[in-house]
Amino acid sequence: ALGRGALYSSEASAIKRVAVVGGGQMGAGIAQVSATYEHGVTLIDVNHEALDRGHAYMAKSLARVAKKKFPEEPAVAHDWVEAVLGRVRRTTSLPEGVANADLVVEAVVENIAVKQKLFADIAGAAPGHCLLASNTSSLPIGRIAEPLDAPTRGRTLGLHFFNPVPQMKLVEVVRAAETSEQAVGRAVAFVKSIGKAPAVCKDTPGFIVNRLLLPYMMEAIRLLERGVADARDIDTAMKLGAGYPMGPFELCDYVGLDTLKFITDGWFKEGDGLRGDKAFAASGKLDELVAAGHLGVKSGRGFYDYSKK
Ligand code: 3HC
Repeated sequence: ALGRGALYSSEASAIKRVAVVGGGQMGAGIAQVSATYEHGVTLIDVNHEALDRGHAYMAKSLARVAKKKFPEEPAVAHDWVEAVLGRVRRTTSLPEGVANADLVVEAVVENIAVKQKLFADIAGAAPGHCLLASNTSSLPIGRIAEPLDAPTRGRTLGLHFFNPVPQMKLVEVVRAAETSEQAVGRAVAFVKSIGKAPAVCKDTPGFIVNRLLLPYMMEAIRLLERGVADARDIDTAMKLGAGYPMGPFELCDYVGLDTLKFITDGWFKEGDGLRGDKAFAASGKLDELVAAGHLGVKSGRGFYDYSKK
């Protein structure tokens, strides 16, 4: 009998062509790793400026990877980067970009209406065997898939990557209530094909990683608010006492304070099983920083100051 792996890696279901919608850091990272592992990739965004930014992100990140891969051979490194970039086609046309895809990964703004409309458009233009995946970190996959017909809901799931995508080894494979077993199997095989490790989980707020990380990050902010220690000491404590690569405040600044606030506010208000959960209650300190435009590394200041480097 065929093992599961053999079945899912068969010609008919193997993923070779990947379309990524959204040329931001996450989308560009997903396009980059897919192309690195020899998939044909199409990066789709609404305008050429966004596509160019995505291209620049990939070029910079690939140069970093190439330098380690070919330390003594700058010419080989350069050619390798060009070859990977050459596998990423860019387009502003969604129907054209998804027309031949085996998998579409959506990585656009965290807005349910935007994603629902986008998934309907993708479903209308992609082949019938194509997997539809969202990289959402805070919205239910089941809700994104709601307007789709039943067979399409069966091939819709979450593929949740982590920042920085080229470096972080995990991808959460999110099985919504209606996602088929076959779709999960194909997604798992794809994740392995790009050198990452899958963790399959149910469609619940935060999945695994953020469900555990966000209460931790919010409690770190509350420790600071209660005057238990300053941010630097809390970060040092968690890095050296618990072996985390970044302390909670470094991580907050890295993820973006607006993102942190957006997710926790959303869960506190209407997260399935989390409504009113005090772990996600607003923090005065966080609100204050966000209101002042101090959003973390990307704005030059969050809990720490990044303006002078
Ligand atoms: N592209 C390619 N490689 C990259 C990269 C990028 N964009 N960013 C980092 N790297 C590589 C470096 O080249 C280096 O590789 P090496 O070890 O083989 O030489 C390695 O990553 C480490 O980088 P640095 O030496 O520059 O810096 P650090 O050792 O401080 O590592 C880090 C940086 C990988 C970001 C590490 O601090 C880390 O793992 N932090 C935690 C990140 C994390 O928790 N991410 C998840 C956030 S939550 C999330 O994304 C969910 C969202 O939905 C909210």
